[in-house]
Amino acid sequence: MKGHEIRDTRYEIRDMPSVARRILISDPLAKEGIEKLKENDDFKVTEVAGLGEEELVKTIPSYDALIVRSGTRVTEKVINAAARLKVIGRAGTGVDNVDVEAATKKGIIVMNTPEGNTISAAEHTISMLLALSRNIPQAYISLKGGEWNRKKFMGTEVCGKTLGIVGLGRIGSEVAKRAQGLKMKVIAYDPFTSQEKAEEMGIALFDLEKLLPQVDYLTVHTPLTSQTKGMIGKKEIALMKKGARIINCARGGIVQEDALYEALKTGRLAGAALDVFEKGKPFGSPLLELDSVVLTPHLGASTREAQKKVAVDIAGQIIDALKGGEIRNAVNILTTPPGVQKKIIPWLNLAEKIGNLEAQLLEGHPRKAEVVYSGRLTDTEVGPLTIALIKGLLDSVYEGVNYVNASLLAKERGLKVMETKTSNEEGFANLISVRLTTHKQEKRIDGTVFEKVPHIVRIDDYSLDFVPQGHLLICVNVDKPGAVGKIATTLGKYEVNIGGLQMGRSTPSGKNVSVYTLDSSPSQKAMKELEKIEEVLEAKLIHL
Ligand code: NAD
Ligand code: MLT
Repeated sequence: MKGHEIRDTRYEIRDMPSVARRILISDPLAKEGIEKLKENDDFKVTEVAGLGEEELVKTIPSYDALIVRSGTRVTEKVINAAARLKVIGRAGTGVDNVDVEAATKKGIIVMNTPEGNTISAAEHTISMLLALSRNIPQAYISLKGGEWNRKKFMGTEVCGKTLGIVGLGRIGSEVAKRAQGLKMKVIAYDPFTSQEKAEEMGIALFDLEKLLPQVDYLTVHTPLTSQTKGMIGKKEIALMKKGARIINCARGGIVQEDALYEALKTGRLAGAALDVFEKGKPFGSPLLELDSVVLTPHLGASTREAQKKVAVDIAGQIIDALKGGEIRNAVNILTTPPGVQKKIIPWLNLAEKIGNLEAQLLEGHPRKAEVVYSGRLTDTEVGPLTIALIKGLLDSVYEGVNYVNASLLAKERGLKVMETKTSNEEGFANLISVRLTTHKQEKRIDGTVFEKVPHIVRIDDYSLDFVPQGHLLICVNVDKPGAVGKIATTLGKYEVNIGGLQMGRSTPSGKNVSVYTLDSSPSQKAMKELEKIEEVLEAKLIHL
């Protein structure tokens, strides 16, 4: 990239009242973080844990900052009730309990602390691996119940066994190092990590289908995104060795619980260890009835050290933010100087949407993004647009990617970004054209802004015009009469309403691309039926 890092990472929080700034901590936070906040005489800190939505709605109007862990649900209603809230700090990684979109709309910064609990989460995963192999929780319960049974709890060694890691990010990498220390063979699937990084760690990368048959243990360490939700299901488990074991200390729902239950019940899998669950708390789940499952109540980050680190980190970040200093680990703001940002907002939206669309349409590890800005954009400072594009590309891949860390993450993951400007605008007043190459595929997407609204005007050789937002079904069809009718009928059968339809074709009677804007997301069953339509060559569901 042509030296386009964001120069000014400061974000001015204006209109601060001269009275003390009020900080509400609504979940238990380690004392070191609270003390750090209280060292500032101009802050008034209140700790009230366990507030429900209604109580929070009543409490929030007088606060400038809110600090939460995973317990407090910061809903749209809470955010809309906030009168002077400038920043929401999450002591931890996942911001799934904060309505980030509502906060963004209201101009409230949301920040997290993505690094503080990495080691604890990795250590918990290793504890689960060993507990699972040696039946430690089961044996403990049995012994406490007065039974002395050495035969029943015969275990397996992990030494020499193969561990498959899905998601070789911060936690996945730390798990890998520890597993190698236990003399396990570690292999991984992460289409967004670079071959060089994996090689340096002594880890071979495989596609998921090639990795699964090799592993004795599988552990997932991805964020929960539209791509990773349910990524380990019946089909994937069927590819695994009989007697393999699965660990999920990342997010509930990455491993499909009904498929996991079936595989454990039939003995296809020998065991599973779960720290996180599809429905938050697993009460009522049949998994609780199985002896082969080891469960913990979301304890990955529950250590003194991790809680101290995330509390101190969030306190420091909130202090800086409220004092108009540097904004760190913000998940929802572009840190360009105020003023510049407003003018380019529609273009930032377009660039981010193109990136996100490319990431969801293409399979494989993104290697190269060639961005061409044309028309009037040649006179604009396009650096922030390229950063927004990269953020869009990486958003569904990394937890906590933001405008500050997007370029760095791209570099670390081996994504080359090339930016050029040209006066040849191909008939549009302004155009952003992006050709993304992954290790498997290549795709070009063009977009423009019309009356402040982003439009996608081209996918590969197909000219189209649609607004990139909401649920979109993008199909490549054989260009034959009746194909679109069959798709619409199938969507209708599953009660999915079509809000708009756009088509593009390259040559008559060849192939065409149809883009359906949907009022709701079709089920997996509906998608499978769509894929079976004779004329449909490809059907992708996109969420923007
Ligand atoms: P990270 O962003 O550093 O790493 C995520 C990795 O997943 C990246 O390397 C990315 O390339 C990869 N990835 C993304 N999409 C993928 C896909 N479709 N297929 C394969 N790989 C994909 O995140 P992290 O800090 O390592 O956190 C990992 C997970 O652990 C997150 O879900 C986080 O919320 C969770 N977490 C849980 C606990 C706990 O208490 N159990 C504690 C901390 C974090
Ligand atoms: C996180 O996202 O940081 C972890 O899941 C731990 C937590 O929720 O506190």
